[in-house]
Amino acid sequence: MNVLVTGGAGYIGSHICVELIEAGHNVVVIDDFSNSKPEVLDNIKKITGKEVKFYEFNVLDEAKTEQVFIENKLDSVIHCAAFKAVGESVQKPIEYYTNNLMSTLVVAKMMKKYGVNNIVFSSSATVYGDPEVVPLTEDCKLGETTNPYGSTKAMMERILTDVQHACPQMSVTLLRYFNPIGAHESGLLGEDPKGIPNNLMPYIMKVATGELECLGIFGDDYDTPDGTGVRDYIHVVDLAKGHVLAIEKYADPGVHICNLGTGKGYSVLEIVHSFERVNGIKINYVIKPRRPGDIAICYADPSRAKRELGWVAEKNIDDMCRDTWNFAKKQMEKKA
Ligand code: WQD
Repeated sequence: MNVLVTGGAGYIGSHICVELIEAGHNVVVIDDFSNSKPEVLDNIKKITGKEVKFYEFNVLDEAKTEQVFIENKLDSVIHCAAFKAVGESVQKPIEYYTNNLMSTLVVAKMMKKYGVNNIVFSSSATVYGDPEVVPLTEDCKLGETTNPYGSTKAMMERILTDVQHACPQMSVTLLRYFNPIGAHESGLLGEDPKGIPNNLMPYIMKVATGELECLGIFGDDYDTPDGTGVRDYIHVVDLAKGHVLAIEKYADPGVHICNLGTGKGYSVLEIVHSFERVNGIKINYVIKPRRPGDIAICYADPSRAKRELGWVAEKNIDDMCRDTWNFAKKQMEKKA
């Protein structure tokens, strides 16, 4: 298949490109490098031996996006391009709503115009809000989102669902990611956010490299076994493989919704201790107050992914910690 990956140079998009190529698909990427680097494209080539066809611009640019649809006989789109920092979205709601919603509309418009009927959308478990029960199944009620980033994900799901209803020949797949972490085992692809990371694993990584002194753990008084927040961490390579199966298997028209998680919850302290044990590095931490908007526990029921896609997460927490550190070491060597 010829697959367009928007945001294909990003953390998740780049891993998706590798898995698509390794499964025999041709990949076209649009990315404006707003949160990624050109070297990612070289690294995809180093890993797979193949090039992606690359276009540098923001998908908001309708004329340029249209040109990509004209120049390539696309079969499917995997739409990852979006702003994704929760904290920043609170400061910059206009930018977040404009970028995330408008780019989704541009993609949907071009798909309709050029008869591309298959889209997989990068959604998030954040659309469930604060869960009433765990594990979360796809039938759980959608909840209140607590920040503009989360609201854009819920709205993008809504937009694509309405588009499918108006274009019944389309297949729209909403993949709800839990907490993607880890890196490609080659150490060539991973997540290296600029500045102070918002998310747990990138923060741990920067404490391990010495760039940051100490991890703040946001609350140890949650109703969880050790008091720290529990999440369903999923290896980014497993996540990427889920996308390949989704474009291949959810080809029939309709709206398909599928969680991608492992089904297991780990606490912040369990992640810290796993990272220390697997990599032999001490991670300094202090307990801080709860972070506003955080929930106590969130993990997936991934049985639909297993039943409908034949997908199960193959990598465990140790793999996630080891691959993160392997990537971090490679980044340090480069900076040295
Ligand atoms: C995980 C756990 C924190 C940082 C967010 C978004 C979601 C998705 C992924 C992003 C929590 C604790 C964290 C730190 C800590 N979208 N923590 N110290 O909040 O589950 O999900 O990121 O693209 O939509 O909401 O992930 O990694 O930020 O936090 O103690 O410095 O780690 O409180 O329990 P979260 P996270």
